[in-house]
Amino acid sequence: TIQIAEAHMLNFEYQNPTKILFGKGQIAKISNEIPSDARLMILYGCGSVIANGTMDIVKKALAGRKITEFGGIEPNPDYDTLMQAVAIAKKEKITYMLAVGGGSVIDAAKFISAATFWELGDPWEILKNQGKGIRMVIPFGCILTLPATGSEMNHHAVISRKTRQIALPTASGSQGNAGAVSIHSSIESEKLAFSSEKVFPQFAVLDPVVTFSLPKSQIANGIADAFGHVMEQYLTYPVNANLQDRFAESILKTLIEDGIKSYHEPEDYDSRANLMWCATMALNGLIGAGVPQDWSTHAIAHELTALFGLAHAQTLAIVLPAALLVRRAEKKEKLLQYADRIWNIHDADPEKAIEQAISKTTELFESLGLATRLSRYGITAAQLPEVSAKLLKHGMTGIGERGSVTLEVCEEILHTAL
Ligand code: NZQ
Ligand code: ZN
Repeated sequence: TIQIAEAHMLNFEYQNPTKILFGKGQIAKISNEIPSDARLMILYGCGSVIANGTMDIVKKALAGRKITEFGGIEPNPDYDTLMQAVAIAKKEKITYMLAVGGGSVIDAAKFISAATFWELGDPWEILKNQGKGIRMVIPFGCILTLPATGSEMNHHAVISRKTRQIALPTASGSQGNAGAVSIHSSIESEKLAFSSEKVFPQFAVLDPVVTFSLPKSQIANGIADAFGHVMEQYLTYPVNANLQDRFAESILKTLIEDGIKSYHEPEDYDSRANLMWCATMALNGLIGAGVPQDWSTHAIAHELTALFGLAHAQTLAIVLPAALLVRRAEKKEKLLQYADRIWNIHDADPEKAIEQAISKTTELFESLGLATRLSRYGITAAQLPEVSAKLLKHGMTGIGERGSVTLEVCEEILHTAL
């Protein structure tokens, strides 16, 4: 017999201040959203927005304004790069920023926004404190060019700090060899998230047309990331949050239908528009209000990116199916609902239905060219203790919607994903 715990919709507070300007040609309106006396800095990535003409449209919309530009923000934005932008923001007394790019550039804007006024020591503490202590920020808006993360309408950001060797003076420097450099200490590669209500974008332009230049692999990444975000908030345990469940299911269904269409027909406006709105709605707080949330798949996935350099969505495609397999007993009720409502699976044997639903999830990722096994990236069992060490270091020892994902469970998930 299945024990159904009596659970109710959780109490919640919900506010999302980001104004959305959705559709073709909407970039032309941004000047109305940015104060006319703003000392403006535009942030962008490694050139895609110049190559596809988005930057020209942006500059035309902002004609006559004095603009400071900061480009070169890399995917999985790096702390050191962003600190260069912080120095410029301080020097130029920037009062408003515009992020033009994908999740990495928008997350970068959030960090720069907070770090410029950070007074509590090393701004890396913003990540270590998960955003606590942020008081003043530079307001910003964004122009989204990659539907995936939801960063354009949320208050989260993920920042990386790359591995590098630093040279330290020798400890015995007092013997006349001060300045000698002999100890090399490496700073490990980290990828950490922070959240703060201060870093919601003030506005976000979602013009599907500027995403037409995306390579198929990035569309696949976007579908997988949005799918992963819904699953973290939906595939937990039931709390009679019927509307949230239906919201989540409608996003999953639309991702499967329009997302896949958009993957195969990159210049089809309608499917791209639907994919774009799905990705935003998947992580703007709405579907997660009042329901338990998991996020252990993301926690494990971020460590894989930090250690092995895989793209965010590549790591989700590996971890999510394995996590569902390992935790299938704990997630049984929602897995059956997912099997029924998303995949139309009605096997009389619930275990079989769950297995089929998880297989469907794996097939979805594989059909988008996303590998679902660590071994496909050459990662072996011998490397898994490194992942555990990272999770331990970051206090990820009792995660998931019930706090039941211990280090041992994480290890089982990773082994299952080999
Ligand atoms: O750097 P450029 O030259 O602009 O090229 C980018 C980049 O190489 C390219 N690109 C973006 N728009 C394009 C385009 N290429 C052609 N045409 C366009 N229109 O795509 C590449 C990837 O961009 P990136 O911004 O890194 O991708 P994504 O939007 O997937 O963002 C990933 C980052 O967001 C974090 C991830 O961990 C990762 O660091 N996440 C942020 C979240 C949030 N803020 O809520 C939640 C997510 O779970 C995620 O962790
Ligand atoms: Zn994600």
